[in-house]
Amino acid sequence: LEPLDPVRYMSNRSSGKMGYALAKAARRRGAKVTLVSGPTALKPPRDVTLCLVKTAEEMRQAVLAECRQYDVIIKAAAVLDWRPKETAEHKIKKGRGVQTLELVENPDILAELGCSRGNSPCILVGFAAETQDLIANAQEKLKKKNLDLIVVNDVSREDAGFEADTNAVKILYRDGHLEELPLMPKEEVAEQLLDRIKSLREKSL
Ligand code: C5P
Repeated sequence: LEPLDPVRYMSNRSSGKMGYALAKAARRRGAKVTLVSGPTALKPPRDVTLCLVKTAEEMRQAVLAECRQYDVIIKAAAVLDWRPKETAEHKIKKGRGVQTLELVENPDILAELGCSRGNSPCILVGFAAETQDLIANAQEKLKKKNLDLIVVNDVSREDAGFEADTNAVKILYRDGHLEELPLMPKEEVAEQLLDRIKSLREKSL
């Protein structure tokens, strides 16, 4: 989230459920896990290193500090693309008529990881929350952010994406291969994704 003043903030509808499910599933499989999380109401999984952040810049710092020690980075967080240019020190008072909010772009954490990874064998996984042209948009993100695979969410569906306990995702690979998974609990989506990531990793070693 991005604060406007001490009592207001900009955020989005992400619940964090998909990221937490992935962290829990990876831990259960024996991985060492760091979960970098924005504000959420969820209970963190046991035995993972929890790194709580608020803003995109804080998330960026945390991810960059941790990323080198990991074989797999999964970026499930719905990072806000913009933040207010200024954060007021005190509560902004009403009664000043129409207000214009000036926004600046946030850093793209995943693109920064992807574009600086060189020959590192680390597997980089992104998510794409889309409401239209799902595959074309995801394909562009996969390329631009230099990812190994991208998980495509149709967030206009009620039973999938933001806030839901279930998700119906499509998995798009670097070679253009597309795999469609049926609607299932996010815990199961996490298991399916980790299976795919494991085989990618085995192939790249
Ligand atoms: O471009 P878009 O925001 O849709 O891309 C989604 C993917 O990029 C997600 O994996 C998300 O975690 C990551 N992202 C990021 N930093 C941003 C915006 C998105 O790491 N500022």
